[in-house]
Amino acid sequence: MSSSILIKNGRVIDPAGTIDRQADVLIRNGLISNMSGKGQFEDAAVDQVIDAEGMTVCPGLIDLHCHLREPGQEDKETIKTGSEAAAKGGFTTICCMPNTKPPIDTAAAVSYVNSIAARDSAIRILPIGCITKNRKGEELAPMYELAQAGVVGFSDDGSPVIDASLMLRAMQYAGPLGLPIIEHCEDLLLSGGGLMNEGDLANIFGLPGIPAAAEEIMVARDILLAKNTGIHIHIAHISTRGSVEIVRFAKKLGIKVTAEVTPHHLTLTETAVAGYNTNAKVNPPLRRDDDVQSLIEGLNDGTIDLISTDHAPHTTSEKEQEFGLAPAGISGFETALSSLLSLVHQGKMEMVKLIEAMTVAPAGILQGRFGKLGTLSPGSIADVTIFDPNREWRVDASSFISRGKNTPLHGKTLKGKVIITISRGEVVYRLDP
Ligand code: DOR
Repeated sequence: MSSSILIKNGRVIDPAGTIDRQADVLIRNGLISNMSGKGQFEDAAVDQVIDAEGMTVCPGLIDLHCHLREPGQEDKETIKTGSEAAAKGGFTTICCMPNTKPPIDTAAAVSYVNSIAARDSAIRILPIGCITKNRKGEELAPMYELAQAGVVGFSDDGSPVIDASLMLRAMQYAGPLGLPIIEHCEDLLLSGGGLMNEGDLANIFGLPGIPAAAEEIMVARDILLAKNTGIHIHIAHISTRGSVEIVRFAKKLGIKVTAEVTPHHLTLTETAVAGYNTNAKVNPPLRRDDDVQSLIEGLNDGTIDLISTDHAPHTTSEKEQEFGLAPAGISGFETALSSLLSLVHQGKMEMVKLIEAMTVAPAGILQGRFGKLGTLSPGSIADVTIFDPNREWRVDASSFISRGKNTPLHGKTLKGKVIITISRGEVVYRLDP
């Protein structure tokens, strides 16, 4: 029997219900029981009262794109450590990419992840299945079987599907299954060997560059294939101005495209690579300020639908290699919301928009198949995140729960901190006082 909780005195933001006001939230039996004006539930008999004075109360964050590394690379992360790190970051639902070892390209692999998640995770973990067998881009994975096993979409993330005719066929299969194709957009011949964003800085650092066109060509290709098949294409980790413009145009044409952007692409530029900082090496690479502005604009005007972390933990020894050898990726769960709040503090984004992009918008991609998520409306699942938007803290990667200490934010001061995360009506994370 789950406990009943009263969260009182908080600023409740529920973009799904266009709510942004002081209110109290009552949780019973794992569900949001009710919401009312401040003080109205004062007499309710509950097991626990949380005083959220000065804090923001919102639906539990949903991450459509992360890497949990299990099975096969448990030195980088496990489902247990990844889910605990996610809960610390305010996430109550996370979708894990299939570039594990072996990859999630069979129903057995999906069942494996689901069984470990059921044993080790206090939050919801939803696997994404491969588009192609072994992510090799040669032969389709058993997509029907994967769908039956419960994947929430298909992706070869980390790699694109280079063969356009194979991608076309993948889309033809995904359509009737009602699941999105989530594409890592990268033309490998154009990006070939690149290590950071192409441009003056790459020249100064003497590092081979990755041109914006490597991403944009694939964004355009996949959108055209989606137009032809009528299926839903979801563009992963969009990073350039050109990609934003292409998605904007495609949406005007009524093509079923959605797009996500990461916290690091919204808040950092290629300059973070200075000093050959491998913790800022990520794929797609951090871009220029002009791209960052365009990504923010895209999110604000609805061109970009949502924010995903692309949490990509790697071991310290791998990241301590020379720049060219270090794997790409940023450990993002534990800094995501805090770093994004800088956009709100700087007046570049409304708080409601930020929360929308991390709750109801990703919930939309899940199409209600896991119950009512991403909202605090009565009857929805009691996944709730409580954060203090003004609490300052210094990022210390060594204190991350994630096994991946690879963050370019180490040592930086961020403003905004998750205080409590509630999953299915149970407190699964609470910041030490
Ligand atoms: O930087 C990245 N790391 N980008 C990806 O697409 C994959 C990810 C990983 O798996 O490490």
